[in-house]
Amino acid sequence: MRFHVLTLFPEMIEGIVNTSITGRAIKNGYMSVETVNIRDYSTKKTMRVDDYPYGGGAGMVMEPEPVYQAVSAIEDKIGKKPRVVYLTPQAEVLNQTKVEELAAEEDLVLLCGHYEGIDDRVLQEVVTDYVSIGDYVLTGGELGAAVLIDAVSRFVPGVLSNEESSQFESMQDNLLEYPQYTRPEEWHGTKVPPVLLSGDHTKIDTWRYEQSVIRTRERRPDLLRNSYHVLCVTYGDEG
Ligand code: ADE
Repeated sequence: MRFHVLTLFPEMIEGIVNTSITGRAIKNGYMSVETVNIRDYSTKKTMRVDDYPYGGGAGMVMEPEPVYQAVSAIEDKIGKKPRVVYLTPQAEVLNQTKVEELAAEEDLVLLCGHYEGIDDRVLQEVVTDYVSIGDYVLTGGELGAAVLIDAVSRFVPGVLSNEESSQFESMQDNLLEYPQYTRPEEWHGTKVPPVLLSGDHTKIDTWRYEQSVIRTRERRPDLLRNSYHVLCVTYGDEG
């Protein structure tokens, strides 16, 4: 999988993706993240890529041509038209279904805006997907791009070890992860749930599933709407 990030701040992306699991995956050749500085495609001597908004108003708008040229350069390099994702709060919020869909691509271009946004004409021309990472406004798209790369990378073969990948099934079922415990067996007066010490893996699996449903119902009931999980667990005193 190859990510191409168009940004005015490549160091923001590089600092994040070259760390931890994504950093390991890049080093081992399972994926690549190429940053492209949109400023390199400036049409001006000053190397600026922004200008005043038509119609007035606060802030600056990113010009269409540098963005267009940056996308074209990637298309020429890879010899095809890849999906181009624009990170913006004006979009549906990213979820695991969309993450998996994007993970099926061989190349993904991630376009990061700044200031008051990007001239809409180039967005109309090059963007295939609009993605938000949450209902709040960030200073630019870079953190969104890093979030998207991290989430998508988990579905790229080889990025996660077997042990790491067996851990993330619950979100695919629209359930939150069950609670985890490690040593010591008793900490600050609270014991690890006895079932986890029983060695009975059928019981442990059932307990974990129930805990996932209970936790999801408490913290993210919206995920359980129309879900069959609620029918599978009797809550007893907790319900
Ligand atoms: N750029 C600014 N805010 C954003 C958000 N919430 N998600 C994605 N990109 C953004």
